[in-house]
Amino acid sequence: MQRYMLEPPHYAYDWFSPLRSEEVVKGRVTNFTFMGHELVAFRDENDQVVVLDAHCPHFGGHLGHGLAHGVHVVDGCIRCPFHGLHFDKNGQCVKGDFVKDTGGLRHLKTTPWTVRETLSSIFIWHGADRTKPTRELVFTNMDFDGWTPAVTNEGRILAPTNLFFPTENIVDVQHFYAVHFWELNEVIRAPGEDENGAFSALLNMKWTFGAQSRFDAVRRIGQFFGSDYLFDIAVWGPGIAISRASVPMLGGATVMSVILITPTNETDCRIRVVSSVKKAYDWAPNRLLRTITGQGIEDVMARLFLWVATNDFDGDEIIWTHRKFLANPKPLKDDGPLIAYRKWSLRFWPDDYAPAPHRERGASPQMADAHS
Ligand code: FES
Ligand SMILES: [Fe+2]
Repeated sequence: MQRYMLEPPHYAYDWFSPLRSEEVVKGRVTNFTFMGHELVAFRDENDQVVVLDAHCPHFGGHLGHGLAHGVHVVDGCIRCPFHGLHFDKNGQCVKGDFVKDTGGLRHLKTTPWTVRETLSSIFIWHGADRTKPTRELVFTNMDFDGWTPAVTNEGRILAPTNLFFPTENIVDVQHFYAVHFWELNEVIRAPGEDENGAFSALLNMKWTFGAQSRFDAVRRIGQFFGSDYLFDIAVWGPGIAISRASVPMLGGATVMSVILITPTNETDCRIRVVSSVKKAYDWAPNRLLRTITGQGIEDVMARLFLWVATNDFDGDEIIWTHRKFLANPKPLKDDGPLIAYRKWSLRFWPDDYAPAPHRERGASPQMADAHS
């Protein structure tokens, strides 16, 4: 059996976004789980997000759990509630509230995770070395000039799901019909690896309003409202896919939806969408609206598309959470290049990952957690 056909790792290597920007507030500690790790996030004196292991290297106290008045961020450092040691953005212990002999403090250090903040989201590098990303986050070099500020929501938990199920769906042509009731008018560029190394496609699709609704009436009325649109989709990794859709019905407005999938623990993922719309309407009323409220019609559209995209996972969620990974599926010609996608995905597998048939039933899917 080819390695790429075996069950992919849940804790793959790449950039992932476990948090929204608004979840890390200056002066406060945020506790969260990421790839099975208990972590804390806070903002340093320059407002930069810092992510550290939750357990203090001194005696294992949890940096984010103590009495409310004992959990602090002071001068951009996190203070452990157990003995009052302070750690800076580099994970270095810089002082102890009750320490007189400061000589030993420099030996107290915890390795910070590599973080980027963009698109109202916080991204973390997950790799063999948490301090050395083997590639930069794709958004770092993108220009969002002319786009509305990114909006996002808390997304939804997929419990359980295989990390690779959501992105594999993007090349799964038949599921667009069966799950989303979209129609494929034309394949302009067939899904495959592009010159940027992403797995991308350009499709001309038809969307129908309310097609997934459980209400008969909504579906009946909805069939009169729909639109063709150009669907430019690129999977950058198991945790990041970017779709840009231009919608002729809306005067050719371009809507960007970023789909973020992040493993929280050994079985579950969170899926979250970020939306932004390219500013396109230079009408007087829109300019006035922008002047008065600071938001234009495109900002309203971004929120609307965020709502639509988040809800569009209703049908997928049921499939993903009940689906079983098959190492020997029976592909049909109409399926789309799912096998090519599995081959492409191998690059995100940790070298020491042992796929399912080689591990004992019920054992951890990860052989070793190299960065721990
Ligand atoms: S365990 Fe954190 S200061 Fe001692
Ligand atoms: Fe889907």
